[in-house]
Amino acid sequence: MNTSLQNDVFLRALLRQPVPYTPVWMMRQAGRYLPEYRATRAKAGSFLQLCQTPDLTCEVTLQPLRRYPLDAAILFSDILTIPHAMGLGLQFETGEGPVIQRPVRTAADVARLGVPDPAQELRYVMDAVSLIRRELHGKVPLIGFAGSPWTVGTYCVEGGSSRDFARIKGMMYDEPKTLHALLEVLTQATIGYLRAQIAAGAQAIMIFDTWGSILTPDCYREFSLDYMTRIVNALPREAEGRIVPRIVFTKGAGALLSDMASIDCDALGVDWTTDLAIARRLVSDQKALQGNLDPCVLYAQPERIREQVARVLASYGKGHGHVFNLGHGIHPAIAPEHAGAMIRAVRELSPAYHAA
Ligand code: CP3
Repeated sequence: MNTSLQNDVFLRALLRQPVPYTPVWMMRQAGRYLPEYRATRAKAGSFLQLCQTPDLTCEVTLQPLRRYPLDAAILFSDILTIPHAMGLGLQFETGEGPVIQRPVRTAADVARLGVPDPAQELRYVMDAVSLIRRELHGKVPLIGFAGSPWTVGTYCVEGGSSRDFARIKGMMYDEPKTLHALLEVLTQATIGYLRAQIAAGAQAIMIFDTWGSILTPDCYREFSLDYMTRIVNALPREAEGRIVPRIVFTKGAGALLSDMASIDCDALGVDWTTDLAIARRLVSDQKALQGNLDPCVLYAQPERIREQVARVLASYGKGHGHVFNLGHGIHPAIAPEHAGAMIRAVRELSPAYHAA
């Protein structure tokens, strides 16, 4: 494997080391807002087929990098590959989001679950990671990822997306042992999955906890944060002679950020509902921060986008540990040129925050 890296600004910023400008990438940077993505997905037949065909997975991962000077690539996949590999029956219905055909509702359902072998059921992900690394030719680092056990658990128990999370929260209050058993097996699966991604070539790891903030602070610690802590602690610190930084993102974390600072990760993701200056104080400047432009800013005209980028950069202020990103995934209706305007603005405006 080619282990040299032409642009390591993203990895250095995650470690709060000096960088000449603020690195930038976008959550869901490969996705439906790009016409070339839609064409490749049509060729694959479906989203799941696209994820399971390494050549096409590699192609869509690289598409946004051909358009924009991004500082990182992210593996094209989904957080629901684990329940899929556990045999829960995953489908993506157009317009409806994910559906789990055999949801996990009882202690007996949990007892039937096994930890998938990343070299078998999830082999297609590892093949994609190796292929992407080869095709990147060391241009920028590759991010591997997984969902948090809590967030993946919500899909397993609810059977798909949910408005009120009634089933999983009912289970949490009525039968906490059953939920803990589910989170335990998901944690073991996620540890094996992320270790395998690192072995295959992932150079940074991100844990997506989209639904952690629907919990009370106590329940967040018990049912989400503790499991993410265990995952992070089980990952190798280095690969290929380089530190593998870990990013933890709980959407809507806000006041939870000070608790999250206890996780042995390098960076925390922040969405647009928390000001970065406040986030920086909440973590006592001990973690890098990734975020946090409101994805809806990209519906506005390029001049407005530039103003909002300037606001985000100013809210973080001077200093190195900032990775610019959206506060959540880019929406499918965004014009690709607007994403380009955001990235250009970050490149042009951010060096002032890193001058000596
Ligand atoms: O960031 C990237 O570019 C990497 C790819 C990526 C996808 N999903 C591709 C995807 C990542 C990191 C994810 C994570 C993911 N998946 C999360 C956590 C992050 C978040 O967005 O909150 C969650 C909750 C999921 C589960 C999931 N997958 C949902 C709810 C949906 C349907 C929503 C939608 O946008 O249609 C998906 C599908 C999905 N995952 C798409 C993509 C590009 C859309 C599929 C398509 O129709 O092409």
